[in-house]
Amino acid sequence: MKRTVGIGVFGVGKMGQAHVRRINDSLRGARVVAIGDPAPEFAHKAAPGLDLPDDAVAESITEMCARPDVDGILVAAWDGEHEAAALAAIAAGKMVFCEKPLTPSVEGCRRIIEAEEKAGRRLLQIGFMRRYDTGYQQMKQVLDSGRIGDPLLAYCMHRNPSQGERFESHQIITQVMVHEFDISRWLFGEEITRVRVDRSRSTSKAPEGLIDPLTAVLWTESGVRINVEAVCFGRYAYDIRCSVLCEDGDVALPDQLAPTIRDASGVRHEIGTDWLDRFKDAYNIEIQSWIDSVIAGEQDGPSAWDGYAAQAICEAAAEAMGSGAEQPLDLMAKPAIYS
Ligand SMILES: NC(=O)c1ccc[n+]([C@@H]2O[C@H](COP(=O)([O-])OP(=O)(O)OC[C@H]3O[C@@H](n4cnc5c(N)ncnc54)[C@H](O)[C@@H]3O)[C@@H](O)[C@H]2O)c1
Repeated sequence: MKRTVGIGVFGVGKMGQAHVRRINDSLRGARVVAIGDPAPEFAHKAAPGLDLPDDAVAESITEMCARPDVDGILVAAWDGEHEAAALAAIAAGKMVFCEKPLTPSVEGCRRIIEAEEKAGRRLLQIGFMRRYDTGYQQMKQVLDSGRIGDPLLAYCMHRNPSQGERFESHQIITQVMVHEFDISRWLFGEEITRVRVDRSRSTSKAPEGLIDPLTAVLWTESGVRINVEAVCFGRYAYDIRCSVLCEDGDVALPDQLAPTIRDASGVRHEIGTDWLDRFKDAYNIEIQSWIDSVIAGEQDGPSAWDGYAAQAICEAAAEAMGSGAEQPLDLMAKPAIYS
């Protein structure tokens, strides 16, 4: 077993560069030995700022997969590039970490599942980092313990201050709500069976024509009703909240770890504006856990199945947004490698 593994990072925008830095500066057992990007000239531009070996830039995912010093590949390219990169890595027998969404289509997710089935084992972990957040883990412990009874209702709030210039309406579901969809499946240990989407008056802070905020209602197999609220141009902060009403009590996500200030104007604590700060510890724990999987040669984090199930909810929600009607979910049978 290797003690230090070599990592290739494919896609070096904001997220990919943050992962390169966290692997090299904060985590143990791995070094980034290669980077690449669907736009290779961008990888060449980014490399000097990342303190990498001289030969680090790979011109393509194929070149990265062929390098013997690359044991695992982290895909942080834009959504539409995930499928090709993940399939190339799986075909080369490399462990792969893929940022969410697994792919922007359910069909693409199925192709990744088929590739893992063909390989006969799980090779991919998907980037649902909230599962590694201490607050969500504490909530799950309370729910799993049964000490406040069975869950009945959940409320998930996801408020972003703003989005980049390329942001489009449908991404409120695929980029933002997808985290709430995954965390709901994980918190309750159940699949989602149907979804409805409700519009509201849009904020004047959003670009012309963009639908923001958006709410979705989901139901789990046992009937828990989950209310999801997503705001992309909420201005005031990056504010993530979650609470669950159970038969004998209520459990809520602890607020951000910030000191409480008391002064003449009242009692308050700050709320950050950046998702990288809010989930910094979760990202570190998530990527460390993936590195440990690469070292061990066995994958156990959130899987391609989780990516597929979340994407199926996204597609049903998009359908429901268009029709205004409740949309049932029809998942494929779960392959044995994900049980
Ligand atoms: N897990 C999470 O919480 C989380 C958070 C953010 C993003 N993501 C995912 O990570 C992936 C990458 O997101 P990102 O925020 O890094 O996107 P990004 O826009 O910063 O980068 C994506 C791609 O855009 C191109 N690009 C970026 N900056 C460029 C520049 N200055 N010049 C030329 N090309 C440039 C590159 O090809 C790069 O790979 C996406 O799939 C996204 O969904 C996940």
